[in-house]
Amino acid sequence: MDTLNRRRFLALSGLSAMGAWLGTASVLAAERDAAGLLPRNLWTSPRFASSPFTVGVASGDPTPDGAVLWTRLAPQPLEFGSGMPPRPLLVHWEVAADPQMRQVVQHGASLAHPELGHAVHVELAGLLPARPYWYRFSVADHHSAVGMTRTLPAADAPVDLLRFAVAGCQHYEEGHFTAWRHIAEEPLDFVFHYGDYIYEGASQPGVRSMNGRPFTNLRNHVGEQTYTLDDYRRRYAQYKTDPDLQAAHAAAPWFVTFDDHEVDNNWAGAQDQDGTPSEVFLLRRAQAFQAYYENMPLRRSALPRNGHMQLYRRARFGRLMDLHVLDTRQYRSRQVPIADRTQVESPARSIVGAGQEQWLFDGLADRAPRWHTIAHQVSLGNYAREKDGVIVSSDDQWSGYLDSRRRLLEHIQRTGQGNVVTACGDAHRHYASDLVQDNRDSGIISSEFLATSITSGADGQGEDEFARNTLRHSPHLRAVTDKRGYVLCEVTDKHWIGDMKILDQVMKPGGTLSRWRRYAVEHGRPGLQEA
Ligand SMILES: [Fe+2]
Repeated sequence: MDTLNRRRFLALSGLSAMGAWLGTASVLAAERDAAGLLPRNLWTSPRFASSPFTVGVASGDPTPDGAVLWTRLAPQPLEFGSGMPPRPLLVHWEVAADPQMRQVVQHGASLAHPELGHAVHVELAGLLPARPYWYRFSVADHHSAVGMTRTLPAADAPVDLLRFAVAGCQHYEEGHFTAWRHIAEEPLDFVFHYGDYIYEGASQPGVRSMNGRPFTNLRNHVGEQTYTLDDYRRRYAQYKTDPDLQAAHAAAPWFVTFDDHEVDNNWAGAQDQDGTPSEVFLLRRAQAFQAYYENMPLRRSALPRNGHMQLYRRARFGRLMDLHVLDTRQYRSRQVPIADRTQVESPARSIVGAGQEQWLFDGLADRAPRWHTIAHQVSLGNYAREKDGVIVSSDDQWSGYLDSRRRLLEHIQRTGQGNVVTACGDAHRHYASDLVQDNRDSGIISSEFLATSITSGADGQGEDEFARNTLRHSPHLRAVTDKRGYVLCEVTDKHWIGDMKILDQVMKPGGTLSRWRRYAVEHGRPGLQEA
């Protein structure tokens, strides 16, 4: 590594690099001299009775020359404190050009701080575009699993094919993470996780009702409802001990965003659903944001500051696609009853906030990429159904923020090239739908692939009465099912294809995966076509 690269590393990872394998003492001395960055309370000779790598590895937010590598030290993942002493320590990392880790191209050491739950976020740079890299961490005599990541194509590079999975809503108590195992086995460029990575609730052991049927948890949350940083940390640790989830993280870089359950059900901006005073709820939200940052392969630009977390962001996949990852929780107006049409349609309310909306509109107006994919949380389709003689839709989705929805669809129609597709989740069902204006005959403007849950809702019944009811009252909805799974997306110059996968069961291990529906959008011609 030349001097320039070394300097760049010091700037990026806080610490580095050269001679990390020459022995801890010499590295420490060199680093202290070079950067003066090592804390005085550094744990210089860490020892662990068992592996601290119990919650896996991950990578995310790739660029053409790098990605974020992540792990978290947790020898006792289900204990508060995760079995770690409250001291910082150095964790070594290697990046290789081969899965056997023989051709190491970069290596270094990063600090795991107790303030951040001993999470490690390494921001790589200087790698080649559009190629896989393998990585692992080590501390004392312990090695992590080897993960694979992939850099983005250069911004102006032609790209023939992109393959990615859209998934989320992974209630730990409601099924095996079999879908993650299948995602791990797909050849993917990346995974988009739309949120509900954890659920905040206390365990509900014993028989309870699920979709009108008796249901018993497959496995139970540890602890009460999450309020404190320790609570959230332990909840993430419990989820992340799952080997299928670990396999999916280790298989490809992820772009993540949160929805509501990473904090609290249906939170909106500074408000929860219980009427807690905002200044009090924000204390909880800040702890949830910190735990989210600690547990996700996010860049330092997403580190929470003053209770705010910068999560909406873009990635460019050469000339083929821009991915716009949204945050529809932090800036949204409070939900209002869906029957209150004045409020639901009020231009004073927004689901994304003015700043993010302008940022999104600017991105969508860019003619450089062939496709634009909006990667977000909740349904943009207006799905309606009859309930007790009244037509209802959700107050928590874009249907509860109709002016935001109208503005976005108008913008897509005005500036788009028939090349905008949206991918989201939250509804615990697959929905495949065209998108039209709610208040006039706009024609088809865009299409939505809403991915069902990994587990939330347990096995599901398929195309049930709820599905038939929704299809009857949602003319642009093509198909809906409540089986579990994910959407596998394939994007080429000509088509944006959503391959909607389902599992026959998640309450037993080894569920069988099958294709449920496959639709294509043709470039320049909005609307789903059977594929
Ligand atoms: Fe969910």
